[in-house]
Amino acid sequence: MLLYTGLLFFLTEFCQSASAEDLLSKHRFPDDFLFGVATSAYQIEGGQKGNGYGKNIWDYYMETYPGKFYSPGTAKIACDSFHKFREDVKLIKNLGVQFYRFSVSWGRVLPEGYSHNINKDGLRYYNDLINELLANGIRPMVTMYHGDLPLALHELGGWTNPYMAYYFEDYARVLYSYFGDRVKYWITFNGACIGYGDDGFVPFLNQSGIANYLCNQVLTLAHAKAYHLYDKEFRILQKGKIGIVFSGNWYEPGSFAVDDIEAAERAMQFKVGIYANPIFHPDGDFPKLVRERVHDVSRKEGYLRSRLPEFSREEVEYVQGTYDFLGFNCYTSFLVENVAEDTSEKTSFHKDLRVKTYQDKSWERGKSSWLGIYPEGTRKLLKWVKENYDDPEIIITENGFSDNGELNDVKRIKYYQKYLSAILDSIHEDKVNVKGFAAWSLLDNFEWMEGYSEKFGLYHVDFSDPDRKRTPKKSVQWYKKVVKERRIVELDEISSRLKGDL
Ligand code: BGC
Repeated sequence: MLLYTGLLFFLTEFCQSASAEDLLSKHRFPDDFLFGVATSAYQIEGGQKGNGYGKNIWDYYMETYPGKFYSPGTAKIACDSFHKFREDVKLIKNLGVQFYRFSVSWGRVLPEGYSHNINKDGLRYYNDLINELLANGIRPMVTMYHGDLPLALHELGGWTNPYMAYYFEDYARVLYSYFGDRVKYWITFNGACIGYGDDGFVPFLNQSGIANYLCNQVLTLAHAKAYHLYDKEFRILQKGKIGIVFSGNWYEPGSFAVDDIEAAERAMQFKVGIYANPIFHPDGDFPKLVRERVHDVSRKEGYLRSRLPEFSREEVEYVQGTYDFLGFNCYTSFLVENVAEDTSEKTSFHKDLRVKTYQDKSWERGKSSWLGIYPEGTRKLLKWVKENYDDPEIIITENGFSDNGELNDVKRIKYYQKYLSAILDSIHEDKVNVKGFAAWSLLDNFEWMEGYSEKFGLYHVDFSDPDRKRTPKKSVQWYKKVVKERRIVELDEISSRLKGDL
């Protein structure tokens, strides 16, 4: 008994005295592991006046319903990367990273969304950016679609319209044709049907349990079309890789109760599986659990068919396996509690899913309301993906921390230390095939509905300065050393001074 008490005392003391840094992974990043930074077109480019720029849903909704946004209209200049991209490339080069993940604004290249009118200024901008990156030894990783849908296509129903798959294929053809000789990493979608089943995000369609499922299907088919097009006509010459990016939030049972364990798995299948299963699961299609559940609830509600659209047998086969890698944006996790069936509730995604999600009060937090810090969740998600799908090659396409834009951003560094540590353990202990990591974001930028009130950048941007001055934060110094030494760097290994190290 005495021995037991002594041991307990020792363990408690040890755990309390071990600083968070002592718990960081001592593994190293493999030689072929790629480091990068990420942005998206609408969040940084600006450059909307002249230049043949075609309006998208964000321009339209901010103009028409300014009251819904934190800072409507302000993406017109954003970080002004449309004009300052050469400076941005210098900032990326300073970090020493191997790749830069950015997105193409569909409407800048095809102002009306369709393929008949190609904007030369748009082509020139992306050609210059790609060339500048390559001249500096940085590989471009290009997202074709990151939320900024051309307005005309939205007026046709946006991602609920099955014909969008064809328009996306045409857009992809233009991108491969003009940029594919130099771009070797393509991402079809930063896949999210957000704003279709809710009114918290553009395009505020808010047809929960219907529009979000249509979007899931159309987006998946559009991705597959772009993939097959590359395979058939471009891959042999261009020799690139194509992937798709999903939100990598992890859903964990809030208790050991069987109901909560099942509810967490339901959440994973409804939130991640609904995107990933058709492409990455060996059997393809939407997850069985999701198909059965939505079919069942739809029938009880009196619908004559399931609200979840069906893939035909040919479509299941056409979509399955259309990937070279899987991208995840990993920021946070949620705990899940089962919710009892309530047949009186009106149709919604939440009714189909039937869970309550929350975050643990003990988790540290970023500025964004949803950003609870739980790096173990990312490790668990990666393991779940390895086990549920065919052990795909994975790239963490986004990971980052929001604050008020402090230059001395120690909390961001600590966030990255913990998440990169979890990723290292996932590579070395769980043998998950993670091949790359991009920090979100290169710059403080336009954080969608939240405007400029939440900052994710490694570099600070002064949005009150017409020149949008960039200043390195402390995390630049830290990330640079991580990339160079391919290991988690401790805080006391970098200078305590904040210096402009460019
Ligand atoms: C999105 C980014 C966004 C970030 C932080 C990601 O999932 O792709 O556009 O800025 O989350 O909210």
